[in-house]
Amino acid sequence: ATPSGAYDAVVIGGGPGGYVAAIKAAQLGLKTACIEKRGSLGGTCLNVGCIPSKAMLNNSHIYHQTQHDLERRGIDVSGVSLNLPQMLKAKDQSVVGLTKGIEMLFKQNKVDYIKGAGSFITPTRLGVKLLDGGETEIEAKNVIIATGSEVTPFPGGAIEIDEKQIVSSTGALELQEVPKKMVVIGGGIIGLEMGSVWSRLGAEVTVVEFLGAIGGAGIDEEVAKQFQKILAKQGLKFKLNTKVLSAEKDASKVLIKTQSAKGDKEETLEADVVLVAVGRRPYTEGLNLEAIGVEKDNKGRIVIDDQFNTSVKNIKCIGDVTFGPMLAHKAEEEGIAAVEYIKSGHGHVNYNGIPSVVYTHPEVAWVGQTEQDLKATGVQYNIGKFPFAANSRAKTNLDSEGFVKFLSEKETDRILGVHIIGPNAGEMISEAVLAMEYGASSEDIARTTHAHPTLSEAFKEAAMSAHGKAIHF
Ligand code: FAD
Ligand code: NAI
Repeated sequence: ATPSGAYDAVVIGGGPGGYVAAIKAAQLGLKTACIEKRGSLGGTCLNVGCIPSKAMLNNSHIYHQTQHDLERRGIDVSGVSLNLPQMLKAKDQSVVGLTKGIEMLFKQNKVDYIKGAGSFITPTRLGVKLLDGGETEIEAKNVIIATGSEVTPFPGGAIEIDEKQIVSSTGALELQEVPKKMVVIGGGIIGLEMGSVWSRLGAEVTVVEFLGAIGGAGIDEEVAKQFQKILAKQGLKFKLNTKVLSAEKDASKVLIKTQSAKGDKEETLEADVVLVAVGRRPYTEGLNLEAIGVEKDNKGRIVIDDQFNTSVKNIKCIGDVTFGPMLAHKAEEEGIAAVEYIKSGHGHVNYNGIPSVVYTHPEVAWVGQTEQDLKATGVQYNIGKFPFAANSRAKTNLDSEGFVKFLSEKETDRILGVHIIGPNAGEMISEAVLAMEYGASSEDIARTTHAHPTLSEAFKEAAMSAHGKAIHF
């Protein structure tokens, strides 16, 4: 049952952007509802994205390590085998636990959770097709659109996803057996994370990437090269500068036609399963935006100003469905800022301080500008690099591939970007984000005590190297 009377804020979409916005709005005293049509909260991230992929990454890593990396540590095990149904179950359990947790948070914070698909009737009136049948209408003084994104289909309809043999990330999280051969189309974040999972579990994985480097947009070129070398050592095969043209099912196999980026060479690859990971696109289906005049750009993104306002007064928009990187933490920050604008007229997101993390092993993480960005803009910079092979903890952990790379402004020593490939890079990058938020110089980090022996000493020593010289390298 929906309470009567107008809401101060209604959020459409219960993903990381939407659910966080709804909780924040309620905490700030606004009468709030969140409409979600999926049947569970948490959006792409909790249901079919961040969380299930990390469950599979973590457990496939443990399996792989148990098989290939225990002997030299003095641990003899025998009879190791994969119980894939149990691994998938463990993944599903983490998803259910966390999505139910958000329902609890909604109750605690008095957010009305309306289960159904929302659609604009007017800018302040929404119709909801309820999941358990019937329809309802609600009034909203402010609306926040947080409807997220969906898988980009392969251009021109040349490849049809069936989520069994030809899968998107969603199907790749549900495969019921380990494919013998897997071809991954797109060497971006999804391709590398899911490719790693199935490679560790025993598949022969080939990643086909149109560009000359892996890792997707925003990765530092030097890191991308090292990353590819490390993944290749783990058994992933790469075909760079290669475009997939089509994929056709042939009985139990899929035949994938590729062409060199220059267009001079064609090849046919064979796979049991093909993962299409060529990006995601904004999702606005069924919102009826045309009727109320909310503007979209030519990529389908809802157009907003720097205060998250759409072209219609009283309607804001955040997360994957609008501009910027498609990341859960970016959506969350925007959710909070958008609500703060509604409540007080002020809010802020620092887009230069949004970290990216690839949760492979080793992890890859970065924030701020890359070396190629700095070259392109002509900024003079210092580089400070420190390899994990010279870090005592990484060495003793027998996990010392990769490095930390600082980029700081030559004139002022201000940190402009930090790029890490190595164990725990995803946790370590937060220190760089915090440093940059506080306008730190690399000397500030170099003079900050880091506990010994920790991996984060590599972070400090890279800063020392940017500012002057490292001690241990
Ligand atoms: P979404 O999470 O997409 O949520 C939007 C919600 O709105 C959906 O639940 C949808 O059902 C609902 N909705 C849409 N239309 C309506 C309507 N009309 N009425 C009611 N409800 C509606 N990001 C990271 O930061 N870290 C990661 O590790 C990471 N891993 C990922 C792994 C995979 C495999 C994928 C696919 C994505 C991953 N992402 C990751 C990206 C992350 O999932 C997204 O950036 C994030 O979910 C965006 O949040 P959002 O709230 O904008 O949208
Ligand atoms: P992506 O944009 O990161 O990578 C897609 C890749 O496919 C690009 O490198 C592109 O050059 C390549 N490509 C496109 N067409 C091709 C073709 N025909 N043949 C060969 N290669 C082709 O997109 P991806 O990996 O699908 O991920 C979507 C989004 O999900 C990302 O933007 C990311 O923000 C988010 N995500 C984040 C994660 C994280 O934070 N750890 C994990 C997974 C997803």
